[in-house]
Amino acid sequence: MNALELKIERRETCRICFFADIFGNVLPALFSDRRGMIFSDGNVLRLYGDALKKSVPNVYVHTMSEGEAHKTPETLLELLRSMAERELGRGDLLVALGGGVVGDLGGLAASLYMRGIDFVQIPTTLLAQVDASVGGKAAVDLCGVKNLIGTIRQPKTVYLDPSFLSTLPRAEIKSGLGEIVKHAALDGALFDEVLSNRGSLFDLAFLARIVPQNVRFKAEIVGRDPFDLGLRRGLNLGHTTAHAIELSCGLSHGESVLCGIVYEAELAKRHFACDGKYLADLESLCTQILGFSPKEIDLSAALRLARFDKKNPASGSVVCIVPQRRGTYASLELPFEQYQAELAAIESAL
Ligand code: GLY
Repeated sequence: MNALELKIERRETCRICFFADIFGNVLPALFSDRRGMIFSDGNVLRLYGDALKKSVPNVYVHTMSEGEAHKTPETLLELLRSMAERELGRGDLLVALGGGVVGDLGGLAASLYMRGIDFVQIPTTLLAQVDASVGGKAAVDLCGVKNLIGTIRQPKTVYLDPSFLSTLPRAEIKSGLGEIVKHAALDGALFDEVLSNRGSLFDLAFLARIVPQNVRFKAEIVGRDPFDLGLRRGLNLGHTTAHAIELSCGLSHGESVLCGIVYEAELAKRHFACDGKYLADLESLCTQILGFSPKEIDLSAALRLARFDKKNPASGSVVCIVPQRRGTYASLELPFEQYQAELAAIESAL
């Protein structure tokens, strides 16, 4: 049999701009010589609808209902239909203005429409600024599985404006802090910075400073492993247990990540040589931000779901990325039954 090897290299560049003035500057410039539309949600429009209208009065805004429950193929199709009805073309632009759900749906729509049009992310939540908007992952949920249908394709530009953080409720800041602590569990310098500011984690001045540091850290990892083939998987630290908790316990993503980090730090102690003082500091940071002990959640329902995490290998085992020492983490693969039994034992000992 004859075969031809076709080598495809996909080189993408994403610009990340810090301290951007979205309504005064960025949006008018983006649409000054370009057609396109903005995608957002009801919550963002309630807060920023007037500013948006003043900034780009002639740009159409397609709005979805807010919340993870709407991160579905149906919402995606509504957006794609709206893009088609407005006759967006190959050279036109889609801008997502909102949190992680808006960014995920917008990114996926932009990557599918006409096999890909330019996409710009303007994240308005802390979680979207430090994590979801960076790295090009875009997806919707299906059949109760988070992010089951998705792509990895970089936005052209991500614009970060710290002033959006001033209108966020405390629960949203808490959720974003979950991903900030996850990055801190992967990077020693970030860990020191977060730990030494543990009295001011919710202050806007601290957040304005820590967001660019988190983004630089994540961008470095994505730049080295854009398609999640190795290094980038470290960014799933705490997430195997977190995803199951999020689906079963009604906590926000960030709260679930904080709980997941605590449980997986305890798993790490059982399987690896760890720095006990470091893990105690990390766990106490998580508990402080949560405002309650991860022991209080109903873990049994979560444990049943962990089996279906899409990161798991086909073998029926579970893979967790666990913190070990300052700036050091490890990958732990356990048979599902063992994972379940160990977490139940950890829960009763916490
Ligand atoms: N949030 C994990 C990643 O972007 O890879």
